[in-house]
Amino acid sequence: MAGDLPVDLLLQRTQRIVDSASDREDKLQRICELLQREVDHYDWVGFYLADRGAQRLVLGPFAGEPTEHVCIPFGKGICGQAAERKETFIVQDVSQEQNYLSCSPRVRSEIVVPILSDGRVLGELDIDSHSLSPFGPQDTELLQAICAMVAGLL
Ligand code: SME
Repeated sequence: MAGDLPVDLLLQRTQRIVDSASDREDKLQRICELLQREVDHYDWVGFYLADRGAQRLVLGPFAGEPTEHVCIPFGKGICGQAAERKETFIVQDVSQEQNYLSCSPRVRSEIVVPILSDGRVLGELDIDSHSLSPFGPQDTELLQAICAMVAGLL
């Protein structure tokens, strides 16, 4: 993540947003904007919120181009698979993934981190990149820490 803000600074800024007085939607929106602005290879950053009764994900706040995928059944696409597996799902080259929902032809890779509480999926943090194979251990560390911070908001 050369050229980007260090992970600890991004986490400090995220914590400040989580602790601020604004409402949940505004906090999630500001976190999306922070990540999209400060990390070069994050081109689309958004939260999906789980509707566990209906076994689907519903699009929440995001930064980047609007997407047609506002509602994703568990199991479908990279987001739906991450919700079923309850694990971080990294696809370094989306052209190699069969179960993938395309938002834009410019997207080359994607990382999805589930937001978990007591083993239940509350939502997800989804990031699309226009670069091939951009994600490393620092991305996983950063995004899992952010998901742990926002779990209390969902
Ligand atoms: N590509 C995702 C769909 C959501 S968008 O990236 C915003 C997927 O395959 O689940």
